[in-house]
Amino acid sequence: MDLKQAIEIRTSIRNFTEEKVPVGDLKELVRRAGLAPSVNNYQPWKFYVVTNKEVLSKMAYKVAERIKELPANSSIASDNVKSQVEWFATFFENAPAVIAMTMEDYESVLEKGVELSHEKINKMRNFPDLQSAGAAIQNMLLSAVDMGYGACWLSAPMMAKDTLEEILEIKEPHHLIAFVAVGKSARELKPKSKKSIDEIFKLID
Ligand SMILES: Cc1cc2nc3c(=O)[nH]c(=O)nc-3n(C[C@H](O)[C@H](O)[C@H](O)COP(=O)(O)O)c2cc1C
Repeated sequence: MDLKQAIEIRTSIRNFTEEKVPVGDLKELVRRAGLAPSVNNYQPWKFYVVTNKEVLSKMAYKVAERIKELPANSSIASDNVKSQVEWFATFFENAPAVIAMTMEDYESVLEKGVELSHEKINKMRNFPDLQSAGAAIQNMLLSAVDMGYGACWLSAPMMAKDTLEEILEIKEPHHLIAFVAVGKSARELKPKSKKSIDEIFKLID
């Protein structure tokens, strides 16, 4: 598929058919994610690919538990908000595959020469580690479309990051960043409407 078409028809997919995604295709998605630019070509990522239903259910259960524990505010909509968020954070359990992206900290060259903490330098540089992660995830989403799959990027499950890291046996120096749920879409791809070019383009000539 041509890149422009993949960009134009991509949309987040949250409902999947039962069809499995072959391991070769999952590897190809990860390979293409790994071709993304990263700060200083650091390639800080490692991807844990989960297709085991029991593991996915356990992960979703832990995420739901964490959301239930969140302190409610006084709004009467609080319960509704929580159950809505719970769905968007746990639907991945019905995906044929979930690709969990993990990353290790990026040690900037600056860290070797200035008396500032890693966290401070990372913030000053506007989180180049997370920017790199975004590039890799977008590669994966577009490749999913190209390969006939639907996918959705998820950060909401990260509310239970510590427990998910335990379940997936993600060890230091890697930390969980995001999930990508992948499978054959159960519905036709219907891209959402986006802001017009005039709203997002400003030329400084
Ligand atoms: C950083 C990031 C985190 C996201 N986290 C979630 C999530 O936890 N759950 C979810 O259902 N969708 C999640 N999404 C998908 C967005 O909701 C989706 O991209 C947005 O609504 C626009 O729709 P589109 O992808 O179909 O264009 C996330 C997207 C991004 C970029």
